[in-house]
Amino acid sequence: MDGAPRLAVHGAGRMGARVAAMAADAGMALVAVVDRQQSGALRLPRVGSLAGLPAVDVLIDFSLPDGAVAAAHWCGAHGVPLVSGTTGLHAAQWEALEQAAAKVPVLHASNFSPGLNALRLLLPRLQQLLGTEAKVSLLDVHHVHKQDAPSGTALALRASLGREDLPIESRREGEVVGDHSVRFELPHETLTLQHQAQDRDLFAAGALRAARWLLQQPAGFYGPDQWLGSKGP
Ligand SMILES: NC(=O)c1ccc[n+]([C@@H]2O[C@H](COP(=O)([O-])OP(=O)(O)OC[C@H]3O[C@@H](n4cnc5c(N)ncnc54)[C@H](OP(=O)(O)O)[C@@H]3O)[C@@H](O)[C@H]2O)c1
Repeated sequence: MDGAPRLAVHGAGRMGARVAAMAADAGMALVAVVDRQQSGALRLPRVGSLAGLPAVDVLIDFSLPDGAVAAAHWCGAHGVPLVSGTTGLHAAQWEALEQAAAKVPVLHASNFSPGLNALRLLLPRLQQLLGTEAKVSLLDVHHVHKQDAPSGTALALRASLGREDLPIESRREGEVVGDHSVRFELPHETLTLQHQAQDRDLFAAGALRAARWLLQQPAGFYGPDQWLGSKGP
């Protein structure tokens, strides 16, 4: 590929706007943001739908589950790698991403933060060290606009422990970007691990790095472990 990879961003909300704004610093050439409102609020090249996109090398999706499905169909049909950070997908919607992954590389991460992913990988070891006597619970705190609860990240943290029965408390408060805590309660002591995202640039930078990495991969379905486990570009 000559020059900077051509990027389109699907979803022009809080996350999509940050990805688009940070694209050039990440060595990507922003071709367009798909903004179905065409509100004019963003000073970025915009198209109203995926059908309006010119040729691109990779698409980054931060929308809602229906949007992630539309992005997966479009990427599969047009041979374009897809990075999606959209959360709250149900089983049939995951299937759409998996179908696209048969044709193009698809990476989904419910959280693009290196710190949070390190916590996720650490949890099984902590559970092993503390034993089954520990009572484990999770807390996710997010801004009031967030549509899904529990957060995709809280679900991923719980899945890493292999215990779907663990309680997750979800709080929606003000403009909190994203806080996650995992609490291990034992007789006479409590161990709490907490991750706080300070701003959305954390996730946007991660998604852009993931897109650079995905461009080197063959068709298939990837998660943060494959991406962060690699040396990357
Ligand atoms: N993976 C991560 O690290 C990470 C980090 C933060 C957030 N997220 C997730 O990313 C997603 C977006 O978050 P956000 O805070 O940016 O949300 P947001 O501000 O509400 O923005 C969502 C954008 O997607 C658009 N959209 C929704 N449905 C669509 C569809 N069917 N087709 C095309 N566009 C559609 C919306 O357009 P309209 O205005 O027209 O509705 C809006 O521009 C959420 O699922 C959130 O949980 C993930």
